[in-house]
Amino acid sequence: MSNFKVTLLPSGEVLDFNGEENLLTQLKGAGKKIKSSCGGCATCSDCMIVVKSGEENLTPQSFEELRLLGNVFHITKERLSCQTRLTGDVTIDISAHEKNTFTGKNESDKKPQTKVRKKEEVESILKEREEKVVQGKNGDTWFKHWEKNGDEAPDSQNKPKKLGGNKRPKPFKFSDSEE
Ligand code: FES
Repeated sequence: MSNFKVTLLPSGEVLDFNGEENLLTQLKGAGKKIKSSCGGCATCSDCMIVVKSGEENLTPQSFEELRLLGNVFHITKERLSCQTRLTGDVTIDISAHEKNTFTGKNESDKKPQTKVRKKEEVESILKEREEKVVQGKNGDTWFKHWEKNGDEAPDSQNKPKKLGGNKRPKPFKFSDSEE
């Protein structure tokens, strides 16, 4: 397994990465904070990195990546780290991820931007949501309206309720034939 050098900007740190795993996995493995919401499925574009040099040493853009970012790499120099593997040495800029990790200008103001909730708080939110769902089922809402009317569900085995029609039209009576 060949190793390649990855220079991270703005810190200038040099890391040894392999060409097997994607950049996102390896950056995370090295303890770098890289945002990602879709788990590497190329649907969120959060894991974007900016290639400063060595773009020819990256695997070509996949269909999924092109669909998300468009064919503008030559302008933006942005790649999805979850869709990119190394074939040589590169220099990448991950400052966007570092910047958004903290709020405030001073070192002392550094706080994670993501709201961290306590376990009790999460449980109470889940309970609240569950109650809302139950309310939705009992209350006068859209939820399974056919059950509330006492009718069968539309997909049941029983024949659907006939709503009129389905009758033969009465023959027209001519005064001649009656006589
Ligand atoms: S992690 Fe979502 S696009 Fe890469």
